[in-house]
Amino acid sequence: MKTSLALAPMYAAMMGVPVLMVLYLLALLFVPAAAHYVFVPLIIIGLLAFGISGMVEVYVKGHAKSPALSMFNHPKKEKGMNISELPGNPAELIVTRLNAGAKEADRQIYALHISRFTSVLDMLCAVKEKGDQTLSFRYSCRMGICGSCAMVINGKPALACETNAMKNLRNGAINVQPMQAHPILKDLVCDLDEFFAKHLSVTPRLYRRDKKGQYEAQEEYPQKQSQIQEFLPYSYCIMCGLCMDACPVVNVNPDFIGPQPLSQAYRYYKDSRDQLNVKRLNEIDTLEGLWGCEYAGACSKVCPKGVDPASAIQLMKKDTMKSNITNEKKG
Ligand code: SF4
Ligand code: FES
Repeated sequence: MKTSLALAPMYAAMMGVPVLMVLYLLALLFVPAAAHYVFVPLIIIGLLAFGISGMVEVYVKGHAKSPALSMFNHPKKEKGMNISELPGNPAELIVTRLNAGAKEADRQIYALHISRFTSVLDMLCAVKEKGDQTLSFRYSCRMGICGSCAMVINGKPALACETNAMKNLRNGAINVQPMQAHPILKDLVCDLDEFFAKHLSVTPRLYRRDKKGQYEAQEEYPQKQSQIQEFLPYSYCIMCGLCMDACPVVNVNPDFIGPQPLSQAYRYYKDSRDQLNVKRLNEIDTLEGLWGCEYAGACSKVCPKGVDPASAIQLMKKDTMKSNITNEKKG
């Protein structure tokens, strides 16, 4: 269905209903009994037409996600071909593709049609479903929860499912690359083993000194709202790895543990139920740990969940210095 056709009743109702209402008021003056029977049903029909055609318009636009697809290898654009005439605006998706071990990346351009609701992930899925099944990328939840669709979009680390395609067009195209700070397995899929190992190295869980308290706790550990607020903002991390990718230190020194594990060390360090306390700081009081951070702040800028690893690291540096001075470390 064409959008303009769906909207025809809406425009007719928009013009007709005010005219009917004026006529209704006039009729009320002269023939009040007839006015109710003639004009009220007409006005109701007009309003219904307005509402229904508006809903049809929203439905049509919502289903115009990347339906049309053609593809071609850069730079031979003339080999492209449109295979659908469904509605939407034309857009190009330029994907940097690389197989593990390959020396050179390949840039492939896919031509699609997008609506204002299309995400970059929708574009990738359309390519995979309707054109090029060899394209590899990860995703799961499609709603910024699982962290799987992390990639570099127009040069910035971002989640593909949370990035609106229309708003991010640059000269009619969107550039998509794999994250740079993790080894590439294929196309947009990175090997995150090392990243997860770094995350595990900071003991990312609550620790109780006695085994009973740790594994068979019979009592609750109540917390005040103020205590919860100390760590809550840092517990929103979805482990997407974008902050690691944005961090300039991680990119030049792979031994640096990085912003994500450090922000999680802080999350548990600040939790009043945790009993590792300052020992958590001791473990990361190294050049590859806390002191590797040069406070570029890029990690906090790209985090899709509003976690602020940069501030967590600086706060831990302060507490570490304090505990070193007071010798709390050994206590
Ligand atoms: S801190 Fe933010 S950017 Fe880093 S892994 Fe967690 S959610 Fe992703
Ligand atoms: S698909 Fe889950 S965060 Fe994007």
